[in-house]
Amino acid sequence: MSDGLEGVVAAQTVLSEVDGQAGRLIIRGHSLDELAGRTTFEQLVAVLFEGFYPDLPADLPAALGQARAEVFAEVAALDAGLVGRSPVEAVRALMARLADGDDMTTALRILAAPAVFTAAVVRAQAGEAPVAPDPSLGHAADALRMLRGTAPTQAEADALDTYLVTVSDHGLNASTFAARVVASTRAGLASAVLAGISALKGPLHGGAPGPVIDMLDGIGEPANARAWIEAALARGERLMGFGHRIYRVRDPRADALKQAVRWLDARQGRLEFAEAVEAAALAILRERKPDRPLDTNVEFYTALLLEALQFPPTAFTCVFAMGRVAGWLAHAREQLAGGRLIRPQSVYVGPAPRKAA
Ligand code: CMC
Repeated sequence: MSDGLEGVVAAQTVLSEVDGQAGRLIIRGHSLDELAGRTTFEQLVAVLFEGFYPDLPADLPAALGQARAEVFAEVAALDAGLVGRSPVEAVRALMARLADGDDMTTALRILAAPAVFTAAVVRAQAGEAPVAPDPSLGHAADALRMLRGTAPTQAEADALDTYLVTVSDHGLNASTFAARVVASTRAGLASAVLAGISALKGPLHGGAPGPVIDMLDGIGEPANARAWIEAALARGERLMGFGHRIYRVRDPRADALKQAVRWLDARQGRLEFAEAVEAAALAILRERKPDRPLDTNVEFYTALLLEALQFPPTAFTCVFAMGRVAGWLAHAREQLAGGRLIRPQSVYVGPAPRKAA
């Protein structure tokens, strides 16, 4: 038995490969550096969905815009109880209102929904009314416009596109595995994606970037980095944004996102500070764990980028879901196309039944 299923191969996929030794991510034959910064979210969806959704509309940006407008109706269900929850719980609850099914219309609505619901939840938590989608815009630009109520700059829309593309798929990570397990039961795409979001929200997976901001804010200035980090590790805490199950070198997504932060000029001082904290963290992790290569993962620069785009840290996991939903939907269809019901075995180590008296 493998603890945490480490090293266990549980699926064959044509969607993406994570090479943990080389620090390389391939999405359907394209390396991440060919895609990030050069591809819109919609173009990446077309790459991921090819062959799995044969009826994908030729004008995907327009179809996705239309789907955003359709799911916006569900925002009316955002009541005070949900507004009081964490953004990812509120978004998950709205996602649960979407009808299940396996068709293209269902898939497009699920793909559109995290962007619409995240913006509405963030605004509601700030006491502001939701902003309706503009179907004529690209998905990233409209996500930012719905969040803030004003149009983003081209650099901001490009930066969010880069983020969504970078996190769209990543092998058999925990949330994708969860989505494939549910898809394998034929429960439907909405159910599979809800499983994905639920797995994503944990701090060991997609819940890490918000706490990265807490760490940066707690450190305050570079001179404090070593003492703050050592105290956190002494309390038994993990450093968010570092370490990975598969990568034994730097996560290639970290540099794709760091590059996007550079496009947003106003953030340069913050970036230099973050680089100083990163260097201190890596040095300390190497001293403390010389036998376990622990390097920067995607979440560290995710935090910087999403902060620069004015998403509140509490909503960072929802923005991760905006991108990863593409991967979940592609994996769900791949699972349905070729896979059997996922049903592994367990080894019973409990007590034997007591004999009847
Ligand atoms: N800070 C301090 N120590 C760490 C860290 C960290 N970030 N990551 C791993 N370790 C230590 C861990 O304590 C363990 O030490 P020991 O053997 O003495 O108990 C050793 O390294 C191996 O850790 P592990 O938990 O067996 O490794 P894993 O493969 O199960 O964990 C991980 C991967 C991402 C859960 C872990 O590195 C972690 O908790 N990182 C912090 C949270 C984080 O950044 N999560 C985002 C992951 S990237 C997004 C994604 O793709 O999901």
